Amino acid sequence: AAVRIKLNNKSAELLGTRVKIFGRIHQIRAQKHATFLQVKDGYGLLQAVLPAGNLTKTYDALTFAQETALVLYGELKTVPEGHDAPDGRELQVDYYKVLGAAPSDLEAITNVVSRDQNPWDAQNLDNRHLVLRGENASAVMKLREAVELAFVDTYREMSFTKVSPPAMVQTQVEGGSTLFKYDYYGEEAYLTQSSQLYLETVIPSLGNVYCIEKSFRAEKSLTRRHLSEYSHVEAELDFIEFDDLLDHLEEMISQVVDKILANKEAAAYVKLLNPGFVKPSLPFLRMKYADAIDWLNAQDPPILNEEGAPHAFGDDIAEAAERRMTDLINRPIFLTHFPVEIKAFYMKKDESDCRVTESVDVLMPGVGEIVGGSMRMEDYDELIEAYKKNDIGHEPYYWYTDQRKYGTSPHGGYGLGLERFLAWLANQHTVRTCTLYSRFMGRCKP
Ligand code: 4AD
Ligand code: MG
Repeated sequence: AAVRIKLNNKSAELLGTRVKIFGRIHQIRAQKHATFLQVKDGYGLLQAVLPAGNLTKTYDALTFAQETALVLYGELKTVPEGHDAPDGRELQVDYYKVLGAAPSDLEAITNVVSRDQNPWDAQNLDNRHLVLRGENASAVMKLREAVELAFVDTYREMSFTKVSPPAMVQTQVEGGSTLFKYDYYGEEAYLTQSSQLYLETVIPSLGNVYCIEKSFRAEKSLTRRHLSEYSHVEAELDFIEFDDLLDHLEEMISQVVDKILANKEAAAYVKLLNPGFVKPSLPFLRMKYADAIDWLNAQDPPILNEEGAPHAFGDDIAEAAERRMTDLINRPIFLTHFPVEIKAFYMKKDESDCRVTESVDVLMPGVGEIVGGSMRMEDYDELIEAYKKNDIGHEPYYWYTDQRKYGTSPHGGYGLGLERFLAWLANQHTVRTCTLYSRFMGRCKP
């Protein structure tokens, strides 16, 4: 009897035994005396050899095409010296059965899509369900899972409690212009932009908390790092100072990277997708916003703002300038102390300079901002004032404001875009290839 195996089973004891494998054809190479199939099963790849005329079932090359689903039986062997095959082994097929045929047009489609990696290409996006069957796309998705687990493990070790805040809400966090609004039984409601406010409400009962949930932004621009729906790793820490928040962020990112690289399978995906990856050295560069403005203006030629003028204090550092800066400095940057006016209502002001907030963006080469975080305003009256200044009616926020009424505390936290982290780690040009099915303006399928 043949033992059914998955292709991640690399046990040496299987060599010389007869096994049974379910999978799909990834590649076909027909030679005179044998046909070589590269079979994939979602766990690995295997070379299957079908010697012509030596099978219990009549062999017909026409039944084989890319993605044909089949079951194969045969003896598992070490590949002969000088031959190359995944894991150094091959299956000498003695019987097979096609379970799901595939027309041979797929090769044409996937060739077009893999040749054209342009993330703006409609054919590429329409065929995402097929593109995902490719080796690179599936490697990114496997790595994504490992990244998520590395975050979970890191937070567990740091004694953070995982929670799951609601996605359907009636409050904004990051500005009204990117809210997705919908009708909630006759009331106006939104898809959440961030779970931050909810995390803040539970630190008194649960201690430090985190979540990995979807966030939604009605981004009206098409950039390579913006999605309408993305996975948001968010954490909130109680009884801390701003420096504690920065130290934690550095430690957290460092541990997540260590865990991924220590995981053999995940490290192999990193190597495949981003062969040059090395863990950034610690400590990360810390730079104040005001110094970044000076730095941008000091370049030759100066890196200009969105209006084409030199940067002035108070300007947003736009995506292009930020990317230039990160690429030139070429190491992670903790950019801190952004002006009050360009940051969200809840951010705590710096006591030594009330023009700026205790805020941080973490910038990574190739991607730019992957984290946004800050200390939170702890004073009740100051928060009420901040709602007013930002034109936010405070009533719907009563549950958030109450955190300041019942035992307020110095606390802070951050949000990290999982797709952006993955784009950095796996050297992806865009976050669109870092999620199963990307959502952005003009695209809500497949
Ligand atoms: O900087 P943001 O808007 O900060 C917040 O939402 C805070 N409330 C988080 C917190 O403190 N708990 O978003 C945080 C991160 C960004 O740095 C970026 O990595 C990611 O979320 N992000 C997006 N990723 C993909 N597509 C978008 N449209 C994104 N918007 C933000
Ligand atoms: Mg931000």
